[in-house]
Amino acid sequence: MFNAKEFIEKSLKEIKVNVKDAKLISACSGGVDSTVTTALAHKAIGDKVLAVFIDDGLRREGEPEFVLRTLKTLGIKTRYVDAKKDFFDAFKGKIDAEEKRKAFRETFYKTFGKVAKEEKTGFIAQGTIRADVIETVKGIKSQHNVLEQIGISPDKYGYKILEPLKELFKPDVRKVGRELGLPKEVSERMPFPGPALSLRVLGEVTPERVAIVRKATEIVEEETKELDTFQNFAVLHNDKATGIKNGKRLYGNIITVRIVDSEDAVAATARHVPYEKLMKIGTRIVTEIPSVVRCLYDITDKPPATIEFE
Ligand code: XMP
Repeated sequence: MFNAKEFIEKSLKEIKVNVKDAKLISACSGGVDSTVTTALAHKAIGDKVLAVFIDDGLRREGEPEFVLRTLKTLGIKTRYVDAKKDFFDAFKGKIDAEEKRKAFRETFYKTFGKVAKEEKTGFIAQGTIRADVIETVKGIKSQHNVLEQIGISPDKYGYKILEPLKELFKPDVRKVGRELGLPKEVSERMPFPGPALSLRVLGEVTPERVAIVRKATEIVEEETKELDTFQNFAVLHNDKATGIKNGKRLYGNIITVRIVDSEDAVAATARHVPYEKLMKIGTRIVTEIPSVVRCLYDITDKPPATIEFE
């Protein structure tokens, strides 16, 4: 049985031993894993931790503001880095899922390399968890935050990486968050992938296409608040379909809605959402997003599908 208190004590010691008197930057996207990691590091070495939020232009509506507000409430020093242009440049012309994941990873680590240099530190903490490592090593997906485990040395980017949660699965990460006294919006937060909306824009990731999926995501989240599911989101397809808008033919966008239940993301089942609810979500999506003409619901479990489309 996992004991969060003992885990925290052990982690605090390890962080102190590793970092000694140096400064540590903690990559914080606002998700459960990275916020728990940042809070652990802060508990271990206090103000020697600088949380770094990278704005990659791929976050959900209002998310950058939420993350900065949360870190401020926790009393953790934070730096906001606007790297939107670098990420969109890296995605230019890429449509293959693994190529896009690698472009994200490369830009992610390069940006941190730059920040580490500016902040004069050789240490970065990140919220890698056990599932990230397993899926990357198995070759299912290149998770953005897995490097050493697949033989890439972070030295290439100029720093050492600390991953205090890398042996834990999500339910235990949440226990650590609760034990650390983090607010519920953090410890119980719905999982959201590091590469964010880039995994939900099939085909090329551009600011315009991200804006479409961001709006659809906002609608799905608003309409499914009370369902208490593991993850619920929208995906923009790379192909188009014929529809009618304002009495005219429109060869428009397709959105798929995905709502799944899961314990630890290793397996998942598609939720049997009441039909009226699905109709309401679909109607809002095709009405509120001018370019969307069709909305689908994904009924596939994991396996054989994965939770994300990419
Ligand atoms: P899949 O799609 O592999 O997702 O069934 C399992 C869980 O992991 C999340 N996910 C990621 N999280 N970096 C992350 O931090 C990633 O690259 C990544 N890819 C998938 C996904 O949202 C789900 O919760």
